[in-house]
Amino acid sequence: MCGIIGIVGKSNENVVDRIIRSLEKLEYRGYDSAGIAVISNGQILRQRAVGKLYNLKEKLINEPICGNTGIGHTRWATHGKPTENNAHPIISKDVAIVHNGIIENYKELKFDLQKDGYIFETATDTEVAAHFLQREIDQGFSPSEAFAKLLKIVEGTYAFVALFSMFPNTLMVARHRSPLIIGFGDNLCVGSDANSISSICNEIAYFEDGDFAEISKDYVIFFDKNFKRVERKRTAISPDLTNCGKGEYAHYMLKEIIEQPNAIRKTILHNSVNADLLDGVSRILILACGTSYHAGMVARYWFEKFLKIPTNVEIASEYKYRNPIIENRTLVIVVTQSGETIDSLEAVEYVRKNSNSKVLVIANVKNSAIARVADFLFYTEAGVEIGVASTKAFTAQLTLLAGLAFCKHEFLLQELQNVPTLCEETLLLYEHIKKIANDIKLANNAIFLGRGTLYPLALEGALKLKEISYIHAEGFAAGEMKHGPIALIDDNIPIVCICPRNELFEKTISNIQEVLARGNNVIVLTDRIGSESLPSETEKIILPNVHVEFAPIIYSIPLQLLAYHVALLRNVDVDKPRNLAKSVTVE
Ligand code: G6P
Repeated sequence: MCGIIGIVGKSNENVVDRIIRSLEKLEYRGYDSAGIAVISNGQILRQRAVGKLYNLKEKLINEPICGNTGIGHTRWATHGKPTENNAHPIISKDVAIVHNGIIENYKELKFDLQKDGYIFETATDTEVAAHFLQREIDQGFSPSEAFAKLLKIVEGTYAFVALFSMFPNTLMVARHRSPLIIGFGDNLCVGSDANSISSICNEIAYFEDGDFAEISKDYVIFFDKNFKRVERKRTAISPDLTNCGKGEYAHYMLKEIIEQPNAIRKTILHNSVNADLLDGVSRILILACGTSYHAGMVARYWFEKFLKIPTNVEIASEYKYRNPIIENRTLVIVVTQSGETIDSLEAVEYVRKNSNSKVLVIANVKNSAIARVADFLFYTEAGVEIGVASTKAFTAQLTLLAGLAFCKHEFLLQELQNVPTLCEETLLLYEHIKKIANDIKLANNAIFLGRGTLYPLALEGALKLKEISYIHAEGFAAGEMKHGPIALIDDNIPIVCICPRNELFEKTISNIQEVLARGNNVIVLTDRIGSESLPSETEKIILPNVHVEFAPIIYSIPLQLLAYHVALLRNVDVDKPRNLAKSVTVE
């Protein structure tokens, strides 16, 4: 979703290049247009372009702008098509503003501003904020007073950064539900995440929902939602953030796939679960979205089997809208890579309002919004994940959830220690999977099958393929095939079946036979022993033998590699697939 940058430079320094470099670090969030505005001699200058940042850069080469205070934005369209005219920054005479989020009451505000003679030139909800601020400035209010008034009236979610032509060294910033971080260093700056401003500053401050701040060349003043001055803690920027380039890899996704053994190792090393936190818990409710939801689905099998606690998993975006009843003594677990997903945040809010349940958060991004509302907090140690398709964060989530599920089973905790090495061995399948990707590259549809803990993995394998290769793919519980999906099978549809030797092996083999009777493109992920009993017509990917409980972690890797190679064969930009956002900050 939208990415935001703002920099107040030192005198005479042109901040345009720095803003562009920071916007590049936000590209992973997903966007379809970009723009930048600076103040130059009391005037706002702006450039915007549709599509990738290189279009904006090209414009800046042909028609350069410069200034020492500026804002930049990558826009993921919500209100209004991704045109240049709708790209941010949005200007109203003396005010330029960038926004991430949705202004829900924009129609009323627009009506009111139109009555006062303001002419709307874009289809965005953001334009009301620009004109509103302009109206307050015209009436003689200062930028901070104008902001305080705006925030009182605006409903919805927002991270705003605005500049004012008559206050050349000032940015006004605010956030509610959308991420925004202030950076302190040689320059004062603001960005949607810490990584994007890590080269400009050495300390960062998070601000609370509803806070706003005035940033100038030399100081930052924080206000809470009642316009009362407050202090917000500054912390040193983590060294991880300053070292997260692609290195020698062609893509972030590949780098992140290969980083999995270490991500898992670190996650095991940095976390130990005290079984006491489960005392008195009679139910577990897992809330998550996307890939994190699939991790939650796997955990459900583990929790019921090993903790003997009834467990439900819910898609966070649906959760609150069915007015669910939360039983007493429910432990709520939220799984999230970014810690920003608005649906998960809203679900936590519902839990808070409607129960006294404790909330355990598993997040990858430190200090993220969801991490900050946790009663119990565990971090996956996957490091910064840039590829839009989540890989190492997923297996790190599974690792942490396994640690929780097996907290009373010393043997399994010991076995968990072997998982990183098994992942290393599995990565050696890279070349073999690259060849097999040819069997899928021309398909329009694909099916993934699994049983037990590997059913959620079938969903995840299908999601990965959809996300980055744009092939329509569905995951099914293998036993469900004959209840409908088998009607889809013909020779053109590849079927990927996750089938290690486990207690459901024979049943899954029967499902493979049913498929083979109707189609001929079946790829089976199995282990050495399993491969001996597989029908000869199947294409096999043979993984190391693993303890059955850890198969979901290990078998994730070939599924990721398969999606990666198919996407490359189809010439998709795997790190930035179309329409997708890494962090989903609007409902
Ligand atoms: C987006 C991302 C997915 C991710 C999902 C949930 O859709 O593209 O990769 O799984 O959000 O995100 P979270 O950060 O909460 O895990």
